[in-house]
Amino acid sequence: MQHLIDTLDLSDAQIAQLLDDARAFKQQHPSHLLRDKLLMTLFFEASTRTRSSFEVAAKRLGAAVVHLDPGKSSTKKGESLEDTFANLCAMEPDGVIIRHSENEAPGILADMQMTSVINAGAGNYAHPTQALLDLFTLMEHFDGKIQGKTLAIVGDIISSRVASSAIRLLTRMGMHVVLVAPKPFMPQSDLPRYERLEDVMDKVDVIMSLRAQLERHASPIFDDYEEYAEHYCINAERLGSRDILILHPGPVMRNIDISDEILEDPRCKVLTQVKNGVYMRMAILKLLLLDS
Ligand code: CP
Repeated sequence: MQHLIDTLDLSDAQIAQLLDDARAFKQQHPSHLLRDKLLMTLFFEASTRTRSSFEVAAKRLGAAVVHLDPGKSSTKKGESLEDTFANLCAMEPDGVIIRHSENEAPGILADMQMTSVINAGAGNYAHPTQALLDLFTLMEHFDGKIQGKTLAIVGDIISSRVASSAIRLLTRMGMHVVLVAPKPFMPQSDLPRYERLEDVMDKVDVIMSLRAQLERHASPIFDDYEEYAEHYCINAERLGSRDILILHPGPVMRNIDISDEILEDPRCKVLTQVKNGVYMRMAILKLLLLDS
């Protein structure tokens, strides 16, 4: 039984396989490879992209999907995460896709060895399927040649599981990663760190903009996000004619993270990331449910 808790769980060969399969799925929609499989989604935090793209991916491969809404489940009556999971597993799903606010939650469930567990985002530590779909988007754009390219992660890095997973996966794939954030959003790191976006604009091939995750701040860090935007928003003036790819995991705070104008610019791949997310998640489901 294989789980996907962190990209560190994957061998180099498995990452290469995922990229090949995602590419193949994008070129030609497959037959119902997972016809007899049942997946359950268990999202303790809000999601638009990850939950729906897992569901689309599973259904495109012929699997059935059941969603449990923790807000309307017996979690509300005090049932523990482990008991909820064990009861779902008693219905014999082939995998459970979980999002949780605690970094450790998916790993705890995986250790119970009752079904395959897929981490759909946990705390501020890991969002492995986002990192993989971003890798796919980068490989597609740069025709497989991402080694030595420089990516700047910009924004609320300290709160971001997207940033944590991207750093682990993209440095492993040979990219240079630099961090750009105001002091309260900057984590401890061995990577190059900058406070001013202007200091990296001529050095980077890719910018990954991140949302300020207000829900994870104990108290407001900025009184006014327009002040933050003045320094960190990816806008036409700041980007100019530079050949820089713009990524964002979503949801985008318009005109704070990225301007309306740049969201329409061909250099901005936000919706390509979402589209690629379906193909990468199809590849992930195939790997975990069929190939392992
Ligand atoms: N990128 C991402 O995790 O988006 P959702 O929170 O909408 O799933």
